Amino acid sequence: MFQEKHAWWKESVVYQIYPRSFADSNGDGIGDLNGITAHLDYLKDLGVDVIWVSPVYASPNDDNGYDISDYRAIMAEFGTMEDFDRMLENIHARGMKLVMDLVANHTSDEHAWFLESKKSRDNPYRDYYIWRDGKNGGAPNNWGSCFSGSAWEYDAATDQYYLHLFSRKQPDLNWANPRVRDEIFAMMTWWCEKGIDGFRMDVIGMIGKENMNDGPVGPGALYGDFGPSCQHTETTHRYIREMRQRVLNRYDLITIGEAGGGTADAIRYSNADGTELNMTFGFEHTDGINDHNEMGKWSDHGTPLREVREVLNRWELDLQGKAWNTLYLSNHDQPRQVSRFGNDSPLWREKSAKMLATLLHMMRGTPFIYQGEELGMTNIYFSSLAQYKDIEVHNAWRQWVESGKVDAQDMLRWFARISRDNARTPMQWNTSANAGFSTGTPWISVNWNYLEINAASEMADPDSVYHYYQKLIALRHTHEIIVYGDFTPLMTDSESVYAFRRELNGQVLTVLCNWTDRTVPCALSDSRSGSDMISNYPEHKTGFLYPYEARVFLQ
Ligand code: GLC
Ligand code: CA
Repeated sequence: MFQEKHAWWKESVVYQIYPRSFADSNGDGIGDLNGITAHLDYLKDLGVDVIWVSPVYASPNDDNGYDISDYRAIMAEFGTMEDFDRMLENIHARGMKLVMDLVANHTSDEHAWFLESKKSRDNPYRDYYIWRDGKNGGAPNNWGSCFSGSAWEYDAATDQYYLHLFSRKQPDLNWANPRVRDEIFAMMTWWCEKGIDGFRMDVIGMIGKENMNDGPVGPGALYGDFGPSCQHTETTHRYIREMRQRVLNRYDLITIGEAGGGTADAIRYSNADGTELNMTFGFEHTDGINDHNEMGKWSDHGTPLREVREVLNRWELDLQGKAWNTLYLSNHDQPRQVSRFGNDSPLWREKSAKMLATLLHMMRGTPFIYQGEELGMTNIYFSSLAQYKDIEVHNAWRQWVESGKVDAQDMLRWFARISRDNARTPMQWNTSANAGFSTGTPWISVNWNYLEINAASEMADPDSVYHYYQKLIALRHTHEIIVYGDFTPLMTDSESVYAFRRELNGQVLTVLCNWTDRTVPCALSDSRSGSDMISNYPEHKTGFLYPYEARVFLQ
């Protein structure tokens, strides 16, 4: 058995807040910092240790704050720096920690550095970004942006193109320039000195651009893939190690890379020898399973148990003993997990939400809960383009539908299934107007199901999804085996059951999850076989699992 080194960030449960949609304190329809501060007791009662807030910095909101115009100021809509300081103080007063979103692959095109950079070719800030001459009357190379269209934007004033791997309002920083690294590291230090407890590092795997070569063009794709030149390069690892040396090592932080890639990449980013980050998010079980054609995420591909289990088990096994893992099924870039992996019909919503939670929270790694997940919040299933706010959706519509390449109805179906706005509808607090999120008009529609799914009702119901999450979190805090136990997959041929075992110091924890809406045979389900730690059913049937049943027992 591998002896895992203990660390507080391995024992923690993280809760992600998407500030715009969490709680609005002043009735302008937009969530804000004072709204977060007002709900800290809710999070404390839930039992989470760490709060990660999506970006709260000054931003023109082309991509909801992932386009930062000033790293040392708070977005006016979210409040002031005093509000931030009070929020941080209140988080710490309750014994919780705060993780900031570090978006440093790119800035907003309204950031002072970029405003200078585009003034002239010899501006001192020119080299803060990636400018290139055009080629053959077009862009410098064939790369496509993550948000559709070319990754290059032409600037007539200086007759050059700048690189933007996301929207054209998110120009990529040039990390090869040592002054850029100095600026970013100084900014990170400034936040650490303020007392924050860690960083979630946005698309950090893309910071090291190794060359500007054309990328491979998949069948039917409109642009080349920048991946081979920009993703998980040696240069990126070198910058992260430099960041570790110059900033991270000076504080006791939790560091999470949004890096993606395969397990070999994750093992390098979050290696146990501690030269880079604590852990990284993988995307193989989300985007990896979903993206099946030249249109990337826009597809009908579901989440078959076999595929999900193969990925999650492989990540557990490959990382074991080598690197720490992250555990998540949803975030602000993914649809709601109960809609995607479970069953959001009124009949099975609660059972399947609890089953998915059991599966994830019993695995080896640090669990991440995305706001509202602990209530079993579902997709909103918008039916028209006008209801969407997300730039990714509107750009994709332009690229595929307006150009006549794809049928509008197909696209709307894919949006409803997989788009990010599903996760961005307001937090459902109670049964009052707008689910208690805001007294004004929310910036994005509230899910109609808030009368049934909301925090107040669930807190009053001991059998709710909320209380189930509370129990799972408490179990992780009291049972070392859940944090540090070895992971062994079970029943890997089953079409209906996801099962695994954890082991530590002679104890064995067995986790059984029925992924279907049918009662299915399961030889491991024996009610005499140990003490039940948690389950979403009050009784069990030897040799079977009920629809979406989850059972955990300790022997
Ligand atoms: C990350 C964020 C996403 C954002 C993108 C560009 O993937 O999670 O929300 O759009 O980076 O910053
Ligand atoms: Ca507000």
